[in-house]
Amino acid sequence: MVLIQTVEELRDALFRIKSVGKSIGLVPTMGALHEGHLSLMRQARKENQVTVCSIFVNPTQFNNQEDLEKYPRTLDKDLELVEPYIDFVFAPTAEEVYREPATEKYDFGALEQVMEGPARPGHFNGVGIIVGRLFKWIEPDKAYFGEKDYQQLIIIKNLVKQLNMDIQIVGCPIVREASGLALSSRNQRLSEEERQKAANIYRILKESTLLATPNTEEIKHFVEMEINKIDILRLEYYEISDAETLQPIRNLNEAKMAIGCIAVYAGDVRLIDNIRYK
Ligand code: PAF
Repeated sequence: MVLIQTVEELRDALFRIKSVGKSIGLVPTMGALHEGHLSLMRQARKENQVTVCSIFVNPTQFNNQEDLEKYPRTLDKDLELVEPYIDFVFAPTAEEVYREPATEKYDFGALEQVMEGPARPGHFNGVGIIVGRLFKWIEPDKAYFGEKDYQQLIIIKNLVKQLNMDIQIVGCPIVREASGLALSSRNQRLSEEERQKAANIYRILKESTLLATPNTEEIKHFVEMEINKIDILRLEYYEISDAETLQPIRNLNEAKMAIGCIAVYAGDVRLIDNIRYK
């Protein structure tokens, strides 16, 4: 495994690989790696001749300065974890990534007007900027993203179309703790009690899929009530949407694929999760 910190070194290293026609799989991350990230890397390893992982806590996607400062940074441990799966780790500084000022303005239309969009102003533009730059520098054949950030996954599929790049975006299933809690780098910030209570999120989502109604208002009401019963948890939103357009639906029968996406605070840690209804 080779650690690379500048765009120039990255281009040099990948130029040789591309010139012999090898396929490249990219796993973009912000570090603080866990089993969820490693599942993306295992899949990238299986499907590509060369694997690249980026580790960069991207300031332009944080709408909250405190969240950016508190984001866990564990580079040495991350490097050990990725060793079995990754050929090149790209871990640049913010100065390197933003040598060119971050002036790109992406328009993701209706996809960014729901859920995380209004909740985190500027977030998806920041994600678009960093992922767009990584795609241009690395030009991978495939790039791997977790389904936990479901809206991000759909937005990145849209980004690739806007950039007119031939990159296959691969979505990978959520990895959960035995308790059901979706793995997230932010879980490190949970107290033991918050962690235990946060496990109710997935339990409630699962129970909501068993309700005998296609009426999404009723399903949402159930989720809201159940989350409110758990002290420490504070619901930010629960939306049930068409899984392709991300637009809210009133009845599960309106969409070919329907997904429920949740954002909840456990103490002061913001967690997201989702579940498919069909
Ligand atoms: O999902 C993440 O960790 C980040 O949003 C990503 C895609 C690495 C961009 O910084």
